[in-house]
Amino acid sequence: MPVTVIQGDIIQLEVDAIVNAANESLLGGGGVDGAIHRAAGPELLEETKQMGGCPTGQAKLSAAYRLPCKGIIHTVGPVWEGGASGEPALLGACYRNSLALAKEAGYTSIAFPAISTGVYGYPVPQAAVVAVRTVLAEMPEDMQVYLVCFRAEDAAVYQGVLTALDR
Ligand code: AR6
Repeated sequence: MPVTVIQGDIIQLEVDAIVNAANESLLGGGGVDGAIHRAAGPELLEETKQMGGCPTGQAKLSAAYRLPCKGIIHTVGPVWEGGASGEPALLGACYRNSLALAKEAGYTSIAFPAISTGVYGYPVPQAAVVAVRTVLAEMPEDMQVYLVCFRAEDAAVYQGVLTALDR
């Protein structure tokens, strides 16, 4: 399957790229961002400090340092403000731009967290539809995509959407 939903901790995955759900500063934070920075080591912050931030919906690539993946794609999901402030388009752009960056880097596997569904408050069912639709539509050929959910209940939702849309 070119798209697979898994439950677990994204930092442990031996894929080409893992995606970080960052904020516009790219200077670290909580959630998956904090876990990635802690596991990669302080060199990651040294690199992201030089990147000049990242607008919502865009993506930037860094080295992976102590992580087992080859690179980290930092993307910034939208803060949920009720859904009428362009959130679906911005969330879709995170997946699309991250996939494009992975392809450009010559990567053939990428793991995404459930972008925006933690601190940024995007409802999981709606985020899952955007994530799955965008990945199915934009995935380069020969790319293996993992949708990684930390919580089992979120993995069930993403899997349900994937099963419904991947036909
Ligand atoms: N592996 C996979 N998923 C994880 C992990 C992990 N190690 N840790 C958390 N999650 P969040 P956001 C899940 O809050 O909503 C940060 O402070 C988590 O359960 O990490 O995009 C940034 O600096 C949830 O399902 O990201 C920003 O300021 C998902 O990752 C802000 O949070 C996303 O939750 C970004 O908020």
